[in-house]
Amino acid sequence: MPARIVVLVSGAGSNLQALLDADQHAFQIVGVVADRPEAQGLVRARSRDIPTLVVDPRDFPDRSAWDAALAHGIADWSPDWVVCAGFMRILGGAVLSAFSQRIVNTHPALLPAFPGAHGVRDALDYGVRVTGCTVHLIDAGVDTGPILGQAAVDVGTDDDVEAVHERIKVVERRLLVDIVTRLCSEGCTVDGRRVTIP
Ligand code: GRF
Repeated sequence: MPARIVVLVSGAGSNLQALLDADQHAFQIVGVVADRPEAQGLVRARSRDIPTLVVDPRDFPDRSAWDAALAHGIADWSPDWVVCAGFMRILGGAVLSAFSQRIVNTHPALLPAFPGAHGVRDALDYGVRVTGCTVHLIDAGVDTGPILGQAAVDVGTDDDVEAVHERIKVVERRLLVDIVTRLCSEGCTVDGRRVTIP
């Protein structure tokens, strides 16, 4: 039986698309959640007849009500794994405790360097010559969870944020699909900060 995964998106959804286009013998995308109705990822999911849900913080009185609704919405699909693929919000306690060590995130920098919402820009501002992406398990911090995999990308002296991010996204999509596939077929063991996928 393929593992059931729910994918969370905020924007263009190219990482979601890579999962949709992947050989899905190991996993099945059973639902896609966005935090805003304009997220292009919703269109990508609907075009494959995958159920979608919008949990927009603007529709809730406070963060904990939003967090609870998000946790319920995801749980309704009974996923084995939750994948944040360009989901630009910090998950709250309800989601984290419902899916502890079963939430994967992808970040466009080589963590622990340059966490947060502007990882690509911050890395370029720092003057790095190599950056990349990190796929990791989510914990209660911001981009601090145990690392599942990383891929590097060279930075040229004339590169701008957009060009570097596009180059990162090429390797990021490959890495995310590879890790989600392996996690869904083999699972993983977590020992402190060390994660092993058998
Ligand atoms: C990815 O680079 C992700 O790491 C970052 O935003 C980008 C989302 O891309 N947080 P997409 O929406 O999957 O195309």
